[in-house]
Amino acid sequence: MKPNASGGRDNVRLYDTIDSTNDEARRLSEGGETGPLWVRSLEQTKGRGRRGRTWLGEPGNLFTTGLFTLTCGPAEAANLSFVAALAVAEAIDPQVTQGAVSLKWPNDVLIEGKKTSGILLESWQGQAGFHLAVGIGVNVRTRPDGIDQPITCVADHVPLGHLPVSAEILFETLRGRFHDWFDIWAQRGFGPIAQAWLARASGVGQPIIVRLPHETLEGRFYGLAPNGTLQLEQADGTIYEVTAGDVFFG
Ligand code: BTN
Repeated sequence: MKPNASGGRDNVRLYDTIDSTNDEARRLSEGGETGPLWVRSLEQTKGRGRRGRTWLGEPGNLFTTGLFTLTCGPAEAANLSFVAALAVAEAIDPQVTQGAVSLKWPNDVLIEGKKTSGILLESWQGQAGFHLAVGIGVNVRTRPDGIDQPITCVADHVPLGHLPVSAEILFETLRGRFHDWFDIWAQRGFGPIAQAWLARASGVGQPIIVRLPHETLEGRFYGLAPNGTLQLEQADGTIYEVTAGDVFFG
């Protein structure tokens, strides 16, 4: 149903510096590129995060965007943020202290509970179809300032006697893992992705606070709905489905 992305895993465009790899992916698609293609830059001058936040682009860290043209719609395509989070987690995992990597809804990757990666999906309708940019930032060597939550980088968690991984090596592993999970998603849907994501997720079954733009909800992290929304069990036992928000552990 969706195109098989395996063919695009080695299709990479590398830039020294760029405003935002998500912006470049969009410009390339407007010029006729359909992907699968990975845009990577050694630094970013106008990196964007979720909900209008800035994502600083210091050299040494990883800034990349996968560009895809899909036959599914935006709701299904949103599954790919979980695919990306899993790929990042699996790329970081062998590089840091065992058991340190976890996932936080919707798509943060944490090391020892601190954010080390963020994912920003953007989509648009073009002449060739529905396009999706999967923007991924990983703090590999440095911890940028100005983020309103505990933050870390991969290099801070390297086991004694090991050398810190480079953004380039991490990128190679990440692409491989992303395309493997993408193919599973294309063939079998969101089920296996949700299962693998939940196995690595922080706080399942635990009290959480979800901050929405205009209200804050409290409850228990019940699980993921089939479309990836967070299921929050409220005090009266009802399940509230959260489509967007910031999660804090109670
Ligand atoms: C978040 O707020 O957690 C998401 C951060 C996403 C940052 C990445 S870096 C590569 C790509 N280009 C951007 O401008 N943003 C994403």
